[in-house]
Amino acid sequence: MKEINDKARELMKGYCRVCKVCDGKACVGEVPGMGGLGTGASFKSNYEALAEIRLNMRLLHDVTEPDITTSVLGYDLSLPVMAAPIGGVSFNMGGGISEDAYAEAVVSGSKKAGVVGCTGDGVPPYVHEAGFAAIVKNGGYGIPFIKPWEGDELDEKLELARTTGCTTFGMDVDAAGLITLRQMGRPVSPKPASELKKIIDKVHSWGAKFILKGVMTPGEAELAAEVGADGIVVSNHGGRVLDHAPGTAEVIHEVSEPVKGKLAVIVDGGIRTGIDVLKMIALGADAVMVGRPVAVAAMGGLEEGVEKYFDTLKAQLSGAMILTGCKDIKSIDINVLF
Ligand SMILES: Cc1cc2nc3c(=O)[nH]c(=O)nc-3n(C[C@H](O)[C@H](O)[C@H](O)COP(=O)(O)O)c2cc1C
Repeated sequence: MKEINDKARELMKGYCRVCKVCDGKACVGEVPGMGGLGTGASFKSNYEALAEIRLNMRLLHDVTEPDITTSVLGYDLSLPVMAAPIGGVSFNMGGGISEDAYAEAVVSGSKKAGVVGCTGDGVPPYVHEAGFAAIVKNGGYGIPFIKPWEGDELDEKLELARTTGCTTFGMDVDAAGLITLRQMGRPVSPKPASELKKIIDKVHSWGAKFILKGVMTPGEAELAAEVGADGIVVSNHGGRVLDHAPGTAEVIHEVSEPVKGKLAVIVDGGIRTGIDVLKMIALGADAVMVGRPVAVAAMGGLEEGVEKYFDTLKAQLSGAMILTGCKDIKSIDINVLF
């Protein structure tokens, strides 16, 4: 990982410092770039809220080889993790590699590691085109996330995404706050539940599933379940859309409570290690997404870099489960936390 990070640091110069700890402090306000919006408070809160949580050590048991596999939204995962959708290599990461090479590294590397990779969307169109192409190359194994565009544009994008052969579609409704889209003259807006329902019904009529990303309150989680979403991602978009939002670890428990078992609860934001994965699962998530560290691994080591990063997470999660006495993902609950 050191070699991969060194290479990424070189390629991402001026966009990401590839800090020892990716906590949002060095890159305050760097959007476009890899940082958090405004004061960077939301990005920093993601990291800090997780760091403040302590684990209960438990050693009087027979768990020596925990089962870290799980199944979410029909995907059998080697650990409860996915690669978060991230796009815009040229304006966010310095353009050291092409958008195509980047998207392929994330989707193929994730598949090889036994997890699923998501792809991003934005302006210019090469962002989603690269993502869709990577999913096609992987036989439809990947989740395209589409921005909440208006009218025909949204329908066209959904139709295009459908041609990738994917079995799940995602939408980051929180993109309504994205400065990068506004700067490029293409702002998007929030989506009322009635409109979301129509989109979800359409995706369901294709036999596919739908994930809503950017849910931060229990009320909106319930609304997502009511309009038929198959999954939500509890996310503040890595602190890139609204300054002073809480860290996702602060809200995941409350947000997951009313919808547990009704839909898949995924969370992202500041998750860096297998220990962070364990904490989020203990707080109520079914799986997590990792953003920036996967992007850095893809920049520095392409497909192999992504695979290596997930291997590191697997070893860390397994170790943490032994030390907290969790034999499988299902047995991780709030009692793991101090
Ligand atoms: C440079 C960059 C680009 C992103 N692009 C997208 C995107 O196109 N679609 C999306 O749903 N989320 C996007 N995100 C948000 C991530 O999917 C994710 O929510 C966030 O990065 C998680 O936080 P973490 O990076 O601390 O793990 C982006 C994030 C970053 C840093």
